[in-house]
Amino acid sequence: MEIEVDGGAVGRAAVPSGASTGKHEALELRDGGEAWLGKGVSRAVRNVREEIAPALRGVDADDQRAVDAALLELDGTKDKSRLGANAVLGASLATAKAAAAAAGVPLYRWVGGAEARVLPVPMLNVINGGAHARNSIDFQEFMVVPAGAETFSEALRVAVEVFHTLAKQLDARGLSTAVGDEGGFAPDLPSTESAIEAILQAAEAAGHRDRIGIATDPAATEFFVDGAYRLDGRTLSGDEMVDLYADFADRFPLLSVEDGLAEDEWTSWRSLTERLGEGLQLVGDDLFVTNVERLQQGIEQGVANAILVKVNQIGTLSETLDAIALARANGYAAVISHRSGETEDTTIADLAVATGVGQIKTGAPSRSDRVAKYNQLLRIEEELGSEAVYPGWDAFRRG
Ligand code: PGA
Ligand code: ZN
Repeated sequence: MEIEVDGGAVGRAAVPSGASTGKHEALELRDGGEAWLGKGVSRAVRNVREEIAPALRGVDADDQRAVDAALLELDGTKDKSRLGANAVLGASLATAKAAAAAAGVPLYRWVGGAEARVLPVPMLNVINGGAHARNSIDFQEFMVVPAGAETFSEALRVAVEVFHTLAKQLDARGLSTAVGDEGGFAPDLPSTESAIEAILQAAEAAGHRDRIGIATDPAATEFFVDGAYRLDGRTLSGDEMVDLYADFADRFPLLSVEDGLAEDEWTSWRSLTERLGEGLQLVGDDLFVTNVERLQQGIEQGVANAILVKVNQIGTLSETLDAIALARANGYAAVISHRSGETEDTTIADLAVATGVGQIKTGAPSRSDRVAKYNQLLRIEEELGSEAVYPGWDAFRRG
């Protein structure tokens, strides 16, 4: 979507889409029916043309809060299901980009102000499983986290070297190096822990074992069936899943576990947090859906200690920033994230620096939709020069 402001500056935004969407996300409007196998967005486009465009005409693009408030009022529903969160988000992000362009400043500075200079530690999803690959692995994501690098660009080099070493090692084992939705390899490995071991072996061979940690996104809702977790051919209770993470945290350099339990399992989430939350990042994605009400509930119940931030889960930039602010005010970390279905849009790279949250999850260093975000972060790092800060291990709590 494009927005033009007085003076001719234009902002363009594309919205992403997820494959393992949480039940509590804002609604992405699709057409249904037969064309595009039901995935068409002509209704959302019509809503942009016939409702959003006339409503935003004359509104001050510099006032993002007012723009987003106008969008919320126009939609009128709690989950943006009338206009579609996809239609609303495109307008919200395109406004910010147009306003930044009109002001002649980069997006990260427009949103984050003069203090914005913290580059995120990237968590690169180098082995894909679950809903993002059609292989034998149940956990959705296994990430290499180059937290031991000195700068963002060095971190990227470390991760790329691990990624390509992993390709060689998988190939030597006769395993597939075709990639999944987020650009990571999708081999038929025999178990969850063998995926972690494969990354550690690649890191060792690449000479980076001390510079990296491991993060995982099991996306546990996806294998939570009839009240139990179906993993590696076994059926596990919530308590047994917590035991499993405790064991992984003991044996592997684990920094972060996202959606380790299903999205409505508040009681087991609480035991997970009590048991491991002190020294391990526990991220709520499907659990919190970038929604301040769900996050507030988590804070009150002592559930998780970090939030995954996806702009399209909530649908406007202002609400996204509100979720991040609430998290940080309560000692929760925030991780800016892409979706499995991405575009060339690089807004989230700027958003990571603007908010200074210190972490981003945007896939493997493969496929242009992922690489585009890393390239944008490299540009920002270069522009910041000696002002740029790379938080490294400090971005994580460690036990
Ligand atoms: P999705 O997955 O974009 O397919 O929902 C990403 C994630 O679970 O973090
Ligand atoms: Zn997730």
